Amino acid sequence: MEKISQSVVKKDHAPKVSGRSVYVADYPSEGVLCGKILHAKVARAKVLGVEVPELPEGYFYVDAKDVPGDNNVNIVLDDTPVYCRETVEYIGEPIAMLCGPDPKVVEQLRDECKVNYEELEPVLDLRTATEKFFDYNFGHGDVDKAFAEADKVYDEEFETGYQEQAYLEPQGMMAVPEEGGRMFVHGSAQCAYYIHGAVMRALGCGPAGVHVMQDVTGGGFGGKEAFPSILGCQVAVAAHKCQKPVRCVFDRREDMEYTSKRHPSLCHYKVAVKDGRVTAMDIDVKFNAGAYSTLSAVVLQRGIIACPGIYNVPNVRVHGWAVKTNTSPCGAYRGFGAPQTFFAVELMMDHIARDLGVDSLAFKEAHLVKQGDQTSTCGKYHFPVPIPAMIEEVDKACDYRKKRAEYAKPQTGRYRRGIGMSMYFHGAGFTGSGERDLIKAVAKLRKYKDGTVEVLASNGEIGQGVRTTFPKIVANELNLPLDKVYYDHPDTARVPDSGPTVASRSLMVVGELLRRAAIKLREQWVDGEEQEVEEHFKEPDFMIPFYIDKFQGDAYPTYAWSVNAIELEIDTYTGIAKVLGAYGSFDVGTPIDYNVVLGQMEGGFLQGIGYASIEKMDYDAKGRIRNNSFSDYLIPTTKDVPNLKCMLHVEKYPDGPYGAKGAGELPLVGAPGAYVEAVEQALGGVKLNHAPFTAEDTLAVITKEAI
Ligand code: MOS
Repeated sequence: MEKISQSVVKKDHAPKVSGRSVYVADYPSEGVLCGKILHAKVARAKVLGVEVPELPEGYFYVDAKDVPGDNNVNIVLDDTPVYCRETVEYIGEPIAMLCGPDPKVVEQLRDECKVNYEELEPVLDLRTATEKFFDYNFGHGDVDKAFAEADKVYDEEFETGYQEQAYLEPQGMMAVPEEGGRMFVHGSAQCAYYIHGAVMRALGCGPAGVHVMQDVTGGGFGGKEAFPSILGCQVAVAAHKCQKPVRCVFDRREDMEYTSKRHPSLCHYKVAVKDGRVTAMDIDVKFNAGAYSTLSAVVLQRGIIACPGIYNVPNVRVHGWAVKTNTSPCGAYRGFGAPQTFFAVELMMDHIARDLGVDSLAFKEAHLVKQGDQTSTCGKYHFPVPIPAMIEEVDKACDYRKKRAEYAKPQTGRYRRGIGMSMYFHGAGFTGSGERDLIKAVAKLRKYKDGTVEVLASNGEIGQGVRTTFPKIVANELNLPLDKVYYDHPDTARVPDSGPTVASRSLMVVGELLRRAAIKLREQWVDGEEQEVEEHFKEPDFMIPFYIDKFQGDAYPTYAWSVNAIELEIDTYTGIAKVLGAYGSFDVGTPIDYNVVLGQMEGGFLQGIGYASIEKMDYDAKGRIRNNSFSDYLIPTTKDVPNLKCMLHVEKYPDGPYGAKGAGELPLVGAPGAYVEAVEQALGGVKLNHAPFTAEDTLAVITKEAI
């Protein structure tokens, strides 16, 4: 193992395990008003008025009329209001915030508010929803010709559901008016500068009128990419009105019902096969965006770029659309659109293979992309594709091919086994030209007179280890002990904008800027002096520039790769599937810290298994999310998958620090494909088309067969 990969104790380990870490809810309450949101109770309505009870001294009612700037939250488009406009568009939409010193009184006042609605018919069904937020078309080759010449055409639809991020710390933000009129916003978040931009706009002030700090954050998984911008604007507007600090921390129920989740999807694949090979794919990907567009544009882009899988398909036509429904807006969740489409394509390939009478692994292997091949967007796989070697690693770890053949034989009895495999990538970093055109990351190092060095960047520690791995890179280049380099929670008043903590980009992109900055500092180092160096992002020269209007070019500089196998045993009496083993080979380039990376792989893989199997969330006929607690939305624990084996395969990326690539999202993406393939096999070779595939779904198959 390389020196940089050797594990260290995480810098935030001691305060976290001892409970000393200060989360936003832990700041003293004295002088701080508690804010509680008045959420809409109907999915679509005109708000005729709100009857607000008489407010005691020191209590406030805050709504859209109190927004001093623009009542639109700056995300991608500007359609999300800070507080609702004349209509509400989903159950949970924030109408107003009640603020005051006593949380119980605030809650009571909030509950006494009477909202008069003129109800409108909500749009709830993804299949019939037609209002498009985004609509993309791209492809290459001659798809119609390939279909005309095909031996056989396959036509299937795949469906995936919600997934809730289920971070342990719910959403929470706090705004503090400072002397001189500056607003200080801090809380649980991934992207301090996103919030900074959003609050500036809502308050109608310049960049110096607000600063934003990320507090200790108890998990994000994408759920704290955009939502904190909305809540941040709401508390900032409230603090501006009350001229006192205001804090709003969601309870679990609010968080689960009303904040962003993974987009439910419907993917329709039409595939042409000639002489045993896939010659064309015509794919329609539809995502349920919810009531406002938030991040759906970019989530959809990542999803559709991945929809032909990691296979060489000469003719491709893709239509992707994100539609509006009157439900809570969906957003970022680890994998960001790709888990949905990789699930669909993996099962599509599996179904075609079985129809052709070949094993799905052999069929997939015959279609794998390799270095130099064209990507779905006419970019290029510039670097080696290590998938064949990774398949062998997984096969060796679990005897995949042997078990796959064995479980394919007819099974009888109560318990039946299956094993399945998926293979996929995660495009490392921002999709498309975002890094080049929008983010333009800047990172700095400041050396103090005593020789300690501070990392100045805007990427937040969300459990992925940047508070440790950033200093590790810098200490390594400067030949300093790790305790001489530190990285605090970013505050936009002190740190440059090195971009958001998303897209598995922090370590690969910002880590590399820091490595280069450290080299610069080493060359300029003068003992006893304060010094500062900075580095700016530059797109690597090898890239084929991406243009979103054409949907062409390198959507990513490089890819992290993975192969997953899942083996399970189904109890045909209960439908419950026991995971006997989950095996993953993950290539994220050089691990900057072995334990940190392994922890990410294990956690993400388990999260993916939850998505594939038990994490079922849905809304009722009124548009209301029915699962709002951890007792009716189950997530897996280590007890559920005791035999989870993650292996690191290292294919170095020359433009990442020491060869590191994006890591955080990769491990979640492939589990549903492998899991459902295994269920299909255990159930005697049925073809399944949706995830999660729960015990109830399994029983439905068994009962149908029995009849
Ligand atoms: Mo991440 S899912 O790109 O916040």
